[in-house]
Amino acid sequence: MVETIEWTADGVVMIDQTRLPRETVYVTCRTYQEVAEAIRNMVIRGAPAIGVAAAMGVALGMLDSDEGDFDAHLERVCGALAATRPTAVNLFWAIDRMKRVALGLRGHSLNEIRARLIDEAVRVYREDIAINRAIGANGAPLVPDGKRVLTHCNAGALATAGYGTALGVVRAAAEAGKKISVYADETRPFLQGARLTAWELQQDGIETTLITDNMAGYFLRSGEVGCVVVGADRIARNGDVANKIGTYSVAVLAKENGVPFYVAAPISTLDLTLASGDGIPIEQRSPAEVTHVFGVPVAPDGIAAANPAFDVTPNRYVTAIITEKGVAYPPYEESLARLAG
Ligand code: MRU
Repeated sequence: MVETIEWTADGVVMIDQTRLPRETVYVTCRTYQEVAEAIRNMVIRGAPAIGVAAAMGVALGMLDSDEGDFDAHLERVCGALAATRPTAVNLFWAIDRMKRVALGLRGHSLNEIRARLIDEAVRVYREDIAINRAIGANGAPLVPDGKRVLTHCNAGALATAGYGTALGVVRAAAEAGKKISVYADETRPFLQGARLTAWELQQDGIETTLITDNMAGYFLRSGEVGCVVVGADRIARNGDVANKIGTYSVAVLAKENGVPFYVAAPISTLDLTLASGDGIPIEQRSPAEVTHVFGVPVAPDGIAAANPAFDVTPNRYVTAIITEKGVAYPPYEESLARLAG
């Protein structure tokens, strides 16, 4: 399987997801500012992968710290990484985790702190892969044998340290011997479905059919789709789910057609400080991503365009939330608190 991100002696190496599937290019971020830029420009994207990148970014940034300036430098590094993308809570979760380790080591030598931060970042990376395997194992029994799975965006190996959340469920079901095939929404405007999900699943030999986003209703009504499985960027206490723009429409169409709608996400994607999805900050990206495709204009010059990158699916459309600690069913206030506790 493809390596999404790796800590190396030269810096943080990541596959450039803006260039897939045409080119497989790895970039090396040698400073925390370069890691922040890579997150902002979506060289690396997907909630858990952003978290891993941020953890590695903190470790990288603190290599330049000095004794007198330690706390201020930590704030600077964490602040720059936190200012990249607002919706995926894994980013803030990872930064907080690294910060806690750094502050807990006050009084130790700088060399020791630096080494421990690198260890912690690599631990975040390794844990994520294990978590995704557990999500896959918990979710695989929910996937009907011999039917299609519909997914939106990319919640695969590329969106995580490896294996994936939603695609982890697909992979685990396939590994368990189920006959699995996938409808992948192309996911306008950034085309994570067409460029990344289709590419990943093709490499794995999992039968995949690419569809445009507006075809989802047609296929959900056809009876061929056994379930929808998507990832998440942030899940509120009541089970409202923020995920890639267009997820909400898929969820409503799934319910309308009696198709189960599953969300696969690690516990680190839960934001139990938020009572509902109304409090989730939604990233607004450049209108140019809507008016242009690969730099080519597809709309008249000067037209207004909106580009919210995520939407919130109310909990009533969510059949279950699959985590590494088990599967949560409604009422989510209770089931999520139990799993997180
Ligand atoms: O804008 P992106 O590509 O970072 O959005 C990604 C998604 O919405 C994913 O579905 C989500 O982060 C879960 S990834 C396991």
